Amino acid sequence: MSTATLRQVPLLDLKAQHIQIRDEALAAVTQVIDSQKFILGEEVQLLEKEIAAYSSTRFGIGCASGSDALLLALMAAEIGYGDRVITTPFTFFATAGAIARLGAIPVFVDVDADTFNLNWELVEKALETHEKVRAIIPVHLFGACADMDPICRSAEARGVMVIEDAAQAIGSEYKGRRAGSIGQMGCFSFFPSKNLGCYGDGGMVTTNDPALAERLAALRIHGCKKKYVHDWVGVNSRLDALQAAVLRVKLRHLDNWSERRQKNAEIYRKELTAKGLPVILPSVAHYQTRHIYNQFVIRCQDRDRLQAFLKDAGIGTEVYYPLSLHQQKCFAYLGYKTGDFPISEKLAEEALALPINPEVTADDVRYVSETIAAFYGQSK
Ligand SMILES: Cc1ncc(COP(=O)(O)O)c(C=O)c1O
Repeated sequence: MSTATLRQVPLLDLKAQHIQIRDEALAAVTQVIDSQKFILGEEVQLLEKEIAAYSSTRFGIGCASGSDALLLALMAAEIGYGDRVITTPFTFFATAGAIARLGAIPVFVDVDADTFNLNWELVEKALETHEKVRAIIPVHLFGACADMDPICRSAEARGVMVIEDAAQAIGSEYKGRRAGSIGQMGCFSFFPSKNLGCYGDGGMVTTNDPALAERLAALRIHGCKKKYVHDWVGVNSRLDALQAAVLRVKLRHLDNWSERRQKNAEIYRKELTAKGLPVILPSVAHYQTRHIYNQFVIRCQDRDRLQAFLKDAGIGTEVYYPLSLHQQKCFAYLGYKTGDFPISEKLAEEALALPINPEVTADDVRYVSETIAAFYGQSK
């Protein structure tokens, strides 16, 4: 087949999304440029209120990225040198990177094979065995929540803080509660590939605690509450008004886009199940009352060859994540070895994200499913 006629189903199609909102986005950006007010200011304040309301929290504090949201949350929790923070090794690097950057020690705990998220029983065990655990960072991976109730119960019993990494989970719900509202703080990313993405980098921390909100707002501007008066050593991590303006436009479309992702997930489930393929579909836990499908990740046999086969058929996929964090060179000093987190390691070999963005059509999903069937049919 020549590439000229080949159907293309990209993993992400931001241009197709941009066409829908181009006029609105340009008007919002133009307004900021005309105002010449670029740093924090009214647009950022309005977005903070809107995201806080969307996430059912009292406060939102905008910052420069999801990575910085995690860093600021840990700083606000006064996590520092030698403190231990429990998290998953099966996540984007930033989750553990933020812990290590503060001189704290990531304590990895394996995930549940069905949900890809922290196994709460292992969290409890880690709390029993490790001293100086000051916080837990559950990650709501791919748009589905970690099992928060038992994690929060264990944390509360020991006075340990829970910081949600909700970078991939805006609008996701655990037993009817929004991601970012369940722990003491929630961290969001507005990286362009997220369900709510800006035109560059951006992030936010949500919280219900006024003291944390005040500290976060200071920490993102060098720990400054009053101009040139510094109560803490903070960082420069401001969300700029241009990004906030774009995000406010996109927020109006977010539910519609997330619903389109949910519809695509349903079609994948129907198509892939009907074909009886050797793939495991992403499970939806009983507590997951709203899944926002930032990614639709299957587990499959012969993953790398399947990925190459799909690429040849014009289908974009991605491996999230090919190397668990305990196996990364930069974390060798933590002393973990291969085999320590068998579920994460297995997922790293089997996981494959299929195109699920809102611009993917039902026909695209059928095409992807048929191509997966063709791959396994051919390799019989
Ligand atoms: C789970 C998770 N945590 C943190 C981040 C960091 O967000 P950012 O890229 O905005 O710094 C990401 C972004 O990919 C993520 O997926």
